[in-house]
Amino acid sequence: MDFTDKRVLVTGSSRGIGFEIAKMFLDAGARVAIHGSTEQSAGAAMERLGDYDHKVAAPGDIGTVAGCESAVETAIEAFGGLDILVNCAGVGEGRPIADCDEAMWDAHCDVNLKGLFFCCRAALPELKKSNGNIVNIASDAGLMGVPGITVYCGTKGGVVNMSRAMALEIAPDVRVNCVCPGYVDTDMIRISAKKKPDPEAYWQKMIDYAPLKRIASTDEIAHGVLYLASAHARFITGTSLAIDGGSTAGK
Ligand SMILES: NC(=O)c1ccc[n+]([C@@H]2O[C@H](COP(=O)([O-])OP(=O)(O)OC[C@H]3O[C@@H](n4cnc5c(N)ncnc54)[C@H](OP(=O)(O)O)[C@@H]3O)[C@@H](O)[C@H]2O)c1
Repeated sequence: MDFTDKRVLVTGSSRGIGFEIAKMFLDAGARVAIHGSTEQSAGAAMERLGDYDHKVAAPGDIGTVAGCESAVETAIEAFGGLDILVNCAGVGEGRPIADCDEAMWDAHCDVNLKGLFFCCRAALPELKKSNGNIVNIASDAGLMGVPGITVYCGTKGGVVNMSRAMALEIAPDVRVNCVCPGYVDTDMIRISAKKKPDPEAYWQKMIDYAPLKRIASTDEIAHGVLYLASAHARFITGTSLAIDGGSTAGK
């Protein structure tokens, strides 16, 4: 896929899935704004991407409206506009309902839902000018209920349905789609596993979760994102692409 000179902001590209998406866009010729919650995390990712020329750091706390607007404005100023916004920044922690407190609720809702919405709002005027598109990273846990991650499920279900509503409201100018990954090998699940009494057993449980019996690699998710962001997907809006090894196909 060719993204030569396309102007892209990938939130949450300091690490994990977002980093892979940003790298894949750079490989495809795009100019990419690299985002993390802090200057340090975005700067570290910029260093890791040292060989690529067309990149700029655009940090900001996605848990605040000001942080969202700052990141989006930095990208727009650097590139003179925006063609593609990928909302990948996210948090996820599994806890039984009884242990879910207000701080955990707020952290999930602020980053996964509120931040994603306000990044879209900030980017929309420029995306309308460029007939651009948005790809939101939700989760297979946004398409079905998963016990033990109720709060995360709530936010990711919200992302899926908010993306549909947004797609309808801003068509035909801007397309909006979701990618819904299953378990992907990143810090998010490695840190979760480490906190469990038996990390190895938990890791095996994640492998067994998908009918395809493995955990995804970050590039498998990034390929889906680039497809939806590309001209090949120009008649696709309001959809959710599950890249989950079959976990949402049924029981
Ligand atoms: N890994 C999985 O199994 C999986 C499965 C389904 C969906 N997802 C979703 O995929 C997305 C990426 O996940 P990942 O596994 O790559 O996670 P990760 O490795 O933990 O990386 C999280 C990214 O989000 C950023 N972020 C977190 N809180 C932020 C905040 N308040 N402000 C700005 N940026 C913030 C982090 O920035 P810093 O580096 O600055 O902290 C980092 O770039 C998330 O939306 C996640 O819910 C992941």
